[in-house]
Amino acid sequence: MKSRNLIGRREFVKTGARGTLGALALIAGGLPRTARAADAQVEVIVGEAIGTIAPAIYGHFTEHIGGVVYDGIWVGEDSAVPNIGGIRRDLVEHMKRIKPAVVRWPGGCFADSYDWRDGIGPRASRPRRTNFWVDAREMRAAPDGPQKYDPNAFGTNEFVRFCRLVGAEPYLAANVRGLTAADFDAWVDYCNSPRGKTSLADERAANGDPDPLRVRYWGVGNESWGCGGNFTPEEYATEFRRFIAWVPDHGVPLSFIASGPSGGDLEWTRRFFAKLTERDRGLLRSVFGWGLHYYCGTSGQGQAVDFTLDDWYDLLRKADVMESLITQQWAAMAEIDTGHRVKLAVDEWGAWHEAGTEVHPAYLFGQMSTMRDALIAALTLDTFSRHADKVVMANVAQLINNLHSLFLAREDRFCATPNFHVFEMYAAHQGGQSLRTQFTAPGVGAYAPGKTSPLWGLAGSASLAGKELVITAVNPSAKNALEAEIVLRGAAALDGRMRVLGSGDIHDHNTFDDPRAVEPREVKIQARGDRFAAKLPPASVALLRISLA
Ligand code: AHR
Repeated sequence: MKSRNLIGRREFVKTGARGTLGALALIAGGLPRTARAADAQVEVIVGEAIGTIAPAIYGHFTEHIGGVVYDGIWVGEDSAVPNIGGIRRDLVEHMKRIKPAVVRWPGGCFADSYDWRDGIGPRASRPRRTNFWVDAREMRAAPDGPQKYDPNAFGTNEFVRFCRLVGAEPYLAANVRGLTAADFDAWVDYCNSPRGKTSLADERAANGDPDPLRVRYWGVGNESWGCGGNFTPEEYATEFRRFIAWVPDHGVPLSFIASGPSGGDLEWTRRFFAKLTERDRGLLRSVFGWGLHYYCGTSGQGQAVDFTLDDWYDLLRKADVMESLITQQWAAMAEIDTGHRVKLAVDEWGAWHEAGTEVHPAYLFGQMSTMRDALIAALTLDTFSRHADKVVMANVAQLINNLHSLFLAREDRFCATPNFHVFEMYAAHQGGQSLRTQFTAPGVGAYAPGKTSPLWGLAGSASLAGKELVITAVNPSAKNALEAEIVLRGAAALDGRMRVLGSGDIHDHNTFDDPRAVEPREVKIQARGDRFAAKLPPASVALLRISLA
């Protein structure tokens, strides 16, 4: 750890509710007013609420790609792998622990090649179809199997059962590239109309679900600027209008999510909103979420596990771009949606490393997740919490055996990645009021002065539910612990607990053979009054749960 008497001479970076401040703030002399000198400060303005943290911010994404559905989620009822009606039991048990508010399915790019009718009815008679991803470079060496030729054993009823088992709302993504608005209406009818009212409802009942599935969230296409149809924003806006026009809701309020830009493409956003509203601004009321996809990519040689210290900071910095994407999209949307009727749904996000660490060659985009990915998960979730007034949903890509996954599975082997532990810790924020915060700490990371900004040295978020204050924080320094002073403005602590996810090495990760290599641990803190201290180990994620007086 760096010497404390350097305080006042090192560069400090403040991150607040509005994100990382571009300028460096030099804290001149003097130590914070705690008994021990502090390297960093976390200031929570308890009276200033930003908005409710939508539980759906802690959402997930599952696509028919590689090992996500087949083997990851679905093992089949006759499998030797412990299962609940064909769904992997270990996965269900772990999912319950993270309170997954919503799960998106069936894609991704796959969604715009999927006919929902293929996935209903007796499994033995469902058609086998070529999977959208069959020609991906990485799949060439993979053996044939359900990852290449989809048996459709997992369809709408199985997916919604999975959601019910884990306590999540289903979010279905409709095929705009290949199917029609009538097919979309029919899918909504199949899912939501009461038994006895329509033939599709009776078909659903015959397929084992007499009660309506009550699917609320519907995505209209996916990446419609690319794999979802190569549309222009104007063409897509026209399709979107057609798909959502007068869809009977069967008594279930429908929340439509439109396919937003690739990364930060503001033109896509401006032109979609302009076209959508050209005849009727009231259509803004029909859009629940503006889908935003952002993969921070990878760094250096692109290796998931074998990376340098520079790669560590570089990738955290790239992940931090989420902050500006949100604020820039929000501003572009406001050029037309002045009242901010439409919110953001970040329905794909995560790191995307090179192939090579997948647990099976057919598990396309499968990758190991290390402590680096855990910090990316944490700093991204904190970003969503700080923008609780803007972001209503987010779905990490993807749940299992894929990019930025929470789980790895191969036949009877299963383990949770460090990302899972972050989601379990951060579930404490769900439904709380996001509070304005300011994090102040020395900037970190190798950088060229005048060219690259250092990464902030501490960031996080806070929320309040009743008398419980929840603070989460990320210390990105690969080497130095931080002595943080927690300052509560407008409240005092009675007591508190702290949980820390850290590890001896930034490359650490869990494997089938060593599934508990990385896991959080409880740390004692003395949380009393309006100022107290917390020690944040290097390369760590912390959760503080504070009881307020
Ligand atoms: O998550 C993998 C793919 O990334 C999704 O199918 C697509 O939407 C995105 O480009």
